[in-house]
Amino acid sequence: MKPTNRQLRRFAFLIGGTTKMRIGFIGLGRMGANMVRRLLRDGHEIVAYNRSPEKTQEIASEGAEPSLSIAELVGKLARPRTVWIMVPAGDATEAQIVELMEHLEPGDTIVDGGNTNFHDDVRRHAELAGRGVQYVDAGVSGGIWGLEVGFCLMVGGEPAAVAPLEPVFRSLAPEGGYIHAGAPGAGHYVKMIHNGIEYGMMQAYAEGFEILHASGYALDLAAIADNWMHGSVVRSWLLELLGLAYKGQGQDLEHLKGWVADSGEGRWTVQEAIDRDVPAPVITIALQTRFRSRQEDSYGAKVLAALRNEFGGHAVKNV
Ligand SMILES: NC(=O)c1ccc[n+]([C@@H]2O[C@H](COP(=O)([O-])OP(=O)(O)OC[C@H]3O[C@@H](n4cnc5c(N)ncnc54)[C@H](OP(=O)(O)O)[C@@H]3O)[C@@H](O)[C@H]2O)c1
Repeated sequence: MKPTNRQLRRFAFLIGGTTKMRIGFIGLGRMGANMVRRLLRDGHEIVAYNRSPEKTQEIASEGAEPSLSIAELVGKLARPRTVWIMVPAGDATEAQIVELMEHLEPGDTIVDGGNTNFHDDVRRHAELAGRGVQYVDAGVSGGIWGLEVGFCLMVGGEPAAVAPLEPVFRSLAPEGGYIHAGAPGAGHYVKMIHNGIEYGMMQAYAEGFEILHASGYALDLAAIADNWMHGSVVRSWLLELLGLAYKGQGQDLEHLKGWVADSGEGRWTVQEAIDRDVPAPVITIALQTRFRSRQEDSYGAKVLAALRNEFGGHAVKNV
């Protein structure tokens, strides 16, 4: 009889000895589900839980052990337990931790892989330490491509909490893509700055390609993005993704509105720069450009128009 996927994984788990782990995973969204898939592929055992049970059932069909509640998830793990949380930062993550703490015991570990503010990590690490539970913050990058390419991991926490989890970190990350950055909070601190840099890089590409688009030359922007991927100093994965977007959507991007959200990390980077008196003009402007992108019209620009009209009689346009 042919062994099932789960039996094969169990076999890999047994022969892999200490390099394979059994952990709990809460949050099976775009990131969490693919992270679980990558861990399963590498022979780890995952007990999975998601708020909406459909996603739990889906990942169970791929080899994870399903749980319909956090209590059930914890009950399916042996001590010392490790539970990875991958849900939106802030209240959603906090609520998972509060519920988990009703069931975890001293020696267990919580890993927060969401885009959490490092100040929350420092607070939680201290609160949980008081109850004997270890807390590890893991900044994760890789988006929806992480399943194939690997997830870049920036981890913070006490060495005694981080070291035992390295088999999991190394399975999730590509070769060279895992770092234990430092003390509690350091993982998410590094991830915050990583995302701040991403804001600045994206803004520079956006401005450069807008000028190319307006140039009057009949430029093939996908071909230029591709050209720059070969030996140019500005080559990057973001540029590669821009080339893919142009190929898939056309270079005029007519169907898109120029409306850009921000998810917190850019703001925190700018706030940290202010708190430490570090000039960070590019990242700050990139963040504020996103604010402007979400306004239908600019009240500030109306004030400029009104003032020019008052002092110089300069032309204005009325709505
Ligand atoms: N997407 C990225 O590129 C990326 C990259 C790095 C880090 N992150 C971080 O990774 C985390 C997850 O992101 P994602 O992209 O996977 O998000 P997502 O696709 O929106 O999935 C969110 C997951 O969290 C669950 N969830 C949402 N609110 C919840 C709540 N109040 N209580 C319990 N569960 C809740 C959702 O459950 P339901 O299925 O029930 O809605 C879903 O499983 C976030 O912290 C995000 O900032 C994302």
